[in-house]
Amino acid sequence: MKPGSILQAITEYKYKYNQSVRLLFGEKCDINLGFDWSQGTKRWKLINQVIQKYNYQSYLEIGCAYDDCFKRVNCSHKVGVDPSIGGTIRKTSDDFFASNKDKFDFIFIDGLHEYHQVKKDILNSLNCLQENGIIMLHDCLPNRIEEQAVPRENGVWNGDVWKAIVELRTYDNLDTAVCLMDCGVGAIKKRKNSDILKFDREINFAKLKFSEYANNYAQWLRTIEYNDMLEFIDSK
Ligand SMILES: C[S@@+](CC[C@H](N)C(=O)[O-])C[C@H]1O[C@@H](n2cnc3c(N)ncnc32)[C@H](O)[C@@H]1O
Repeated sequence: MKPGSILQAITEYKYKYNQSVRLLFGEKCDINLGFDWSQGTKRWKLINQVIQKYNYQSYLEIGCAYDDCFKRVNCSHKVGVDPSIGGTIRKTSDDFFASNKDKFDFIFIDGLHEYHQVKKDILNSLNCLQENGIIMLHDCLPNRIEEQAVPRENGVWNGDVWKAIVELRTYDNLDTAVCLMDCGVGAIKKRKNSDILKFDREINFAKLKFSEYANNYAQWLRTIEYNDMLEFIDSK
């Protein structure tokens, strides 16, 4: 057996183990939102359109993998952070932000898709975002519980990024929406929240259930179409 196939077999075994543990002790839900992202517009089209429109000069990507997005982004100054592969800096996002002194116009967060890490990445990004800059995030709209499960149990994995988005939607000083494209692309602008999400109970965002997300995602994540996203970004 080649080392690559051994690694693959171990990974699949780990996913199966995680799934069995969830099926025994965790949430079970068979809702499938049924989004087919395979044919639609890709994240780099939106990213490039925004960079061009606002004449942004600096781009930071957290989590680059095979540079599918990073290599397609057109911007004069690009920094890509990933502890394993791709980008320009071999560090975790936490290590990068701990020593970073630069500011960026556009920050794309697509690293570890776990709520606590995503929230940290967002807060750290806000601290190094230029005044009129924007943060975007990938993987905000998982279709099935297997695609959002933490720990990971599936090849296609969006994780629970969506929980961080729901939390941000309750802040009055950040305006957040999610574009219905390419696994869900979220956008965050530093300004008054124009459509604040309110709950009539205390929420522990980390503990929200996939079934609650699946039944409320349009309102909770403020999902919008591509052209509405361009308007959302443009509004003051
Ligand atoms: C989904 S891939 C990124 C895909 C890429 N942005 C694209 O659009 O094609 C996620 C990447 O995040 C990286 N990653 C995992 N943990 C991270 C962390 N703590 N900080 C930064 N990147 C991380 C992984 O190594 C992996 O390459």
